[in-house]
Amino acid sequence: MVEMNQGLEGIHIGESKLSSVDGQKGELIYRGYTIEDLALNRTFEDTVFLLFFGVLPDADERETLREQIALSRTLPPAVVAALEACKDAHPMDAIRTAVSLLGGIDSASEDDSVEANRAKSFRLIGQLGAAVATFHRIREGLPPLDNNPNDDMARYFMRSIRDEEPDDHFVRVFDACLTLHADHGCNASTFSARVTTSTMSDLHSAVVSAIGTLKGALHGGANSRVMEMLLTIGSEDEAEAFVDDALAHKRRIMGFGHRVYKVFDPRAKVLRELSVGMIGRGADEKWLRMSDRMVEVMKAKKDIDPNVDFYSASLYYSMGIPLDIYTPIFAMSRVSGWCAHILEQKASNRLMRPRLVYTGPRDLTTKA
Ligand SMILES: CC(C)(COP(=O)(O)OP(=O)(O)OC[C@H]1O[C@@H](n2cnc3c(N)ncnc32)[C@H](O)[C@@H]1OP(=O)(O)O)[C@@H](O)C(=O)NCCC(=O)NCCS
Repeated sequence: MVEMNQGLEGIHIGESKLSSVDGQKGELIYRGYTIEDLALNRTFEDTVFLLFFGVLPDADERETLREQIALSRTLPPAVVAALEACKDAHPMDAIRTAVSLLGGIDSASEDDSVEANRAKSFRLIGQLGAAVATFHRIREGLPPLDNNPNDDMARYFMRSIRDEEPDDHFVRVFDACLTLHADHGCNASTFSARVTTSTMSDLHSAVVSAIGTLKGALHGGANSRVMEMLLTIGSEDEAEAFVDDALAHKRRIMGFGHRVYKVFDPRAKVLRELSVGMIGRGADEKWLRMSDRMVEVMKAKKDIDPNVDFYSASLYYSMGIPLDIYTPIFAMSRVSGWCAHILEQKASNRLMRPRLVYTGPRDLTTKA
């Protein structure tokens, strides 16, 4: 009998110094720092530096990286044209296309040195944020936004989406969201980036694979579906009946459950706290009350806790972000983790090539 593991559950495919997910304790650390500490006390750009260099930046290093990312937000005209051509597509398809094209026109695309891959990674972090923002503005019929190189990613993005100077509190909250989504061990999209890298393919190709993987409802695609669900439920009083009906019909409730966490996802805890802080700043408290009620009912009836996608959904909603942009936001943050993993995979590579147990017919012949 061949031993099979259909979902690769509990399988370790290598070592990593980037992040650790403890599913029993409910702990996520990046390079030794807890996610709570980084999200509340540092910036997304600091987190990017940490993922790539293993230490937090000093003031000069922070500014250099921030500027490097900011300057790459001015997209090549061909990429803006591609986003325009995709304006009716799913936003994840649009940004996947943008990254593919960015790879096709990046003169360093085939340079596989560590320095070149690092530089391409920082460029891509800026470019992907800009692709999401530009796609949104094209679709909304808004004029292109001048890229202010003094803006960090959170301020740039909030300004692009809201088309006004954003509230400092919103910027701070959004920045924490970017940090919370930056990396997460060997999640499905990171795994696919590593598989592509393991064939000695290039960085852009690996990120394209990862974006395609993130899109699915069981991974990053859950966050927008959470908000659709909350809008369908409509009120706190209907939450229990909704959960009961879903469980009775064996329907998955988006934003709950996790392959690794068997307790409350630590990112969801921080996101809930951030949601509390948004009340009185434009957030309707009903979404938080409804979410909390669903968490209570799911715990009592199924012993399943919420994941990162649950509380991020209503938080983004309270910041006025369109629903179908939630998963692209996940991508514009997680691209930092993907790229750091791509570099790590390249440094210690072995082709990933699992097997399948063949269960089809044998001994057929084309001869009559
Ligand atoms: C993320 C996910 C795919 C992990 O699932 P998994 O490790 O494969 O867990 P399993 O499919 O083995 O599920 C175990 C049990 O929990 C149930 N379950 C898991 N997640 C559930 C959910 N979101 N809603 C309802 N039931 C759920 C399964 O139906 C199963 O119940 P059973 O034993 O009575 O049949 C799953 O929890 C899910 O589909 N969640 C919703 C999508 C989502 O939020 N994705 C984002 C993840 S960060």
